[in-house]
Amino acid sequence: MSTIRLGDEAPNFTAKSTEGEINFHEWLGHSWGILFSHPADYTPVCTTELGTVAKYKDQFDKRNVKVVALSVDGLESHKGWVNDINETQDTTVNFPIIADEDRKVSELYDMIHPNANDKLTVRSVFVIDPDKKVKLIITYPASTGRNFEELLRVIDSLQLTAYHKVATPANWKSGDDCVVSPSIESKDIPGIFPKGYTEIKPYLRMTPQPDLK
Ligand code: BEZ
Repeated sequence: MSTIRLGDEAPNFTAKSTEGEINFHEWLGHSWGILFSHPADYTPVCTTELGTVAKYKDQFDKRNVKVVALSVDGLESHKGWVNDINETQDTTVNFPIIADEDRKVSELYDMIHPNANDKLTVRSVFVIDPDKKVKLIITYPASTGRNFEELLRVIDSLQLTAYHKVATPANWKSGDDCVVSPSIESKDIPGIFPKGYTEIKPYLRMTPQPDLK
């Protein structure tokens, strides 16, 4: 088991998946990536989660994000369960699901939390940027299905702040005003943010969201 922290390189691995063997870094290419684990196939919350992710494909594509799921169940189990997801969630699963029966990836990414369950993965989410750096880690318990709107919201923030000297305030969503990075002196703001800014306090300066490139 290794500890993975924000800013670390996402560990590479090869694994079996419903779309063939994956070399994680090669599979990511120059895209952003989401690696997310779920506890087990043929379980109700996971069924709704994977169906929901399939329906978000356009949203992920728009953001240049590739998605891969994982559990410690085997490939045959995954393939059978995908039929159920497609049928019950009225969708077509359109991303690979890793069959991590030997727990190689789960252990590499610390997805098994023994005091929650010593056999199954928790609901981990890793967002990885095109340089293969880990930009977001979230962990949910088995009993709570994830909010994928929140995941899109964070990806919007990550992509904006990767290219502009802004941060995003509480409850920000794409299109809302942003916070000017504290590292920028107020005298330099007009040259950097042509849309203008408002100084609420010397350390709290707001600017309209810069245009994404
Ligand atoms: C579920 O996906 O419904 C689930 C999986 C493991 C434990 C509890 C719920």
